Amino acid sequence: MADFSSLFSENANNMKASTIRELLKLTQKPDIISFAGGLPAPDVFPVEDLRAAANIVFDTQGRKALQYGTTEGDDGLREELIKFESKQGVSIKKENLLVVSASQQALDIVAKIFLDAGDYVIAGRPTYLGALQAIQSYSAKVLGIPFTAAQDGFDMVKLEQTYAEAKAAGKKIKYIYVIPDFQNPSGFCWSIEKRKALLEFAYKTGLPILEDSPYREIRFMGDSIPSIYELDQRGANKGIVINLKTFSKILAPGTRMGWIMADTALISKFVVAKQAMDLCTNVFTQMWLAEYMRTGKLDGVIQATRDKYREKRNAMVEALERYMPKRADISWTKPEGGLFLWITLPSFIDTDKLLLKAVEKKVAFVAGSGFYVDNPEHNSMRMNFSYPTHEQIEEGVKRLGLVVQEAIAEHK
Ligand SMILES: Cc1ncc(COP(=O)(O)O)c(C=O)c1O
Repeated sequence: MADFSSLFSENANNMKASTIRELLKLTQKPDIISFAGGLPAPDVFPVEDLRAAANIVFDTQGRKALQYGTTEGDDGLREELIKFESKQGVSIKKENLLVVSASQQALDIVAKIFLDAGDYVIAGRPTYLGALQAIQSYSAKVLGIPFTAAQDGFDMVKLEQTYAEAKAAGKKIKYIYVIPDFQNPSGFCWSIEKRKALLEFAYKTGLPILEDSPYREIRFMGDSIPSIYELDQRGANKGIVINLKTFSKILAPGTRMGWIMADTALISKFVVAKQAMDLCTNVFTQMWLAEYMRTGKLDGVIQATRDKYREKRNAMVEALERYMPKRADISWTKPEGGLFLWITLPSFIDTDKLLLKAVEKKVAFVAGSGFYVDNPEHNSMRMNFSYPTHEQIEEGVKRLGLVVQEAIAEHK
């Protein structure tokens, strides 16, 4: 086999295969109860309604659906997205919208536009691994900011301090990446005060905020908090926030369809970057989703998703209360939305090692260390509750409780 490794670009050499995805392979054996994935519950996918919408597209606009489209996105879909956002209080025009092949492409586009090798992005500790991969693939680095003990957003003192130190050291910071609604991996949700404070910080420093909101609509309890994009729009309206949305968690991830909302000048820049990637997003899928949205049934699917995830989240929290050892240094988040909760264990437990023991007991999670770029915390784990059944949640958490109990006993 030819070896081209000496010819690979520096960026390619900086790309890291996801250790989490590698580990997921280990957890995918059929008899393992896995809380490791991040998959939506497939029973909510509206297969028949989507089939009907696809048929309408083929029956009425088949030739258009099979043709190239514009990079900005299908007009019909963008109209539906504008209506969808306006129902949530966000007012946008077509020029503020770019349709993308789901959020992951958007993370890549933004990184491509802003980052040179050696640049920095401010992001949470922990944060979504796919965003870290996109940043690293442009040879850029991350300045990690811890969250407050109240888990309601960044520790703003630490943010100011990290920023000042980085500036003094001549580091070039390009943007701030956050997932304010039910973060992957932790389930943290930012308070309104912290959202406003971050916006003020962005105004002061001139740094754009990349607000990634795949879980925003999946709030199954509590009151909705305005997005940072909305806060900017309702306030000084400086166009400093780039908001990413996706159909992945509100409808079906296999559609690979999402949208970026941003200032028109930024959208034009993103369009050029996207042209080099794929010319345009899959035209048929855009028209198909527009047709489906016109039926008005998406709201019902989102509500059904919320209802289902609320029950599963409650089942997992209740099972954790039943089966986890009761200690002050064991805790878990109780998210009001999203797909994940985050467990913190005693500091002497390394969840990378615990995972191997858990897999022996036929239960799996994602070790928290994978969600940090440097100095990872080793005593946390991400648990997905959207995909497993209620029975699997009960049995899997029971097994996990035993694994943790054994690790504590061994330490003693
Ligand atoms: C925070 C976050 N951003 C982006 C993505 C990518 O989603 P997609 O490309 O399916 O829209 C995910 C997927 O889990 C995520 O958790």
